[in-house]
Amino acid sequence: MGKILVTGGLGFIGSHTVVELLEKGEEVLVADNLSNSSMDVLEGIKKITGKNSDFVNVDLADFEKSRTIFESNEIDSIIHFAASKAVGESVEKPLLYYRNNLNSMINMLELSREFKVGKFVFSSSCTVYGEPDQLPVSEQTPVKKAESPYGNTKQIGEEIIIDFVKSHPKLKAISLRYFNPIGAHDTALIGELPLGVPANLVPYITQTAAGIRESLSVFGGDYNTPDGTCIRDYIHVVDLANAHIIALDHCDRMEESYDYFNVGTGSGTSVLEVINSFEKVSDQKLNYEIKDRRPGDVEKTYADTTKANSILGWKAERDLDNMMATAWKWQQTL
Ligand code: UFG
Repeated sequence: MGKILVTGGLGFIGSHTVVELLEKGEEVLVADNLSNSSMDVLEGIKKITGKNSDFVNVDLADFEKSRTIFESNEIDSIIHFAASKAVGESVEKPLLYYRNNLNSMINMLELSREFKVGKFVFSSSCTVYGEPDQLPVSEQTPVKKAESPYGNTKQIGEEIIIDFVKSHPKLKAISLRYFNPIGAHDTALIGELPLGVPANLVPYITQTAAGIRESLSVFGGDYNTPDGTCIRDYIHVVDLANAHIIALDHCDRMEESYDYFNVGTGSGTSVLEVINSFEKVSDQKLNYEIKDRRPGDVEKTYADTTKANSILGWKAERDLDNMMATAWKWQQTL
């Protein structure tokens, strides 16, 4: 058995996936350029699992440097997380996003062919659906024109894989379309580490409660939803991590070379419901105000997870209170 290369393995979702892989006895090689993570995460992974994972600091957009990973390791699978992920930044620096996210993807696929890698799992996003015409969003829901260069890199990334496996069907590839990953590991030894002011809801909530931010702005209270705030499908990062492991296993059973799955809980939760859950599990009042809508926000989206449930045999297990409790426990360690 060769190793599983986890690119972006020190990031939020990557690190939780590395933990689950190591706990299942897999051999893992983490590749990360530390652009949005730190070596402390590797320490956290080691403390949780009691195991060492090999680590290489590399920019995967650099083909020759990436190639050396494959020359010195027998890689049989890749879980490809490495990517820039800030929607707003991608609008300001589109070429950076296309260069980072697409070059690294092309390099990983090229090297998969050269070094006979058999399995490839790609982090895609529910952003490919935009504002969906029907809910819940199933995999048959048409993909919409991306609203940001970041979203476009996810759409193009999926298309690149589809075209590539047609020419190289020995590679079995799966795209996982994540809904909104939140929460942290139960041990609070790893979690989300946003750079600067968080753009996402849950780190903003926990930082406000911790006194780092003054008040949470709830973006929009006049949406066409039961309480007027936007609806998302929040999923615990450990549930999401496990979906990757199950997807890798599924590659061995696939007849076609490519498939794609929604990964969410299947239920929609409003911003105010997230806040209520946080207040309950943390036993404190959150300082927040309803403000104007944030440009570009989708009103409501949540997943139809039937395909992942029936074909992968995967289902999210953790509820919103657990997501908020683990996120809060993690914040208190920072
Ligand atoms: N929100 C607030 N206040 C904040 C931050 C967020 O009210 O300070 C609201 C947003 O308006 C939205 C909800 O909380 O209704 C969730 O927002 P996030 O920023 O946490 O998540 P998004 O759904 O906007 O973003 C997610 C992923 C992106 C992906 C995007 C596609 O994090 O990677 O979905 O829509 F691109």
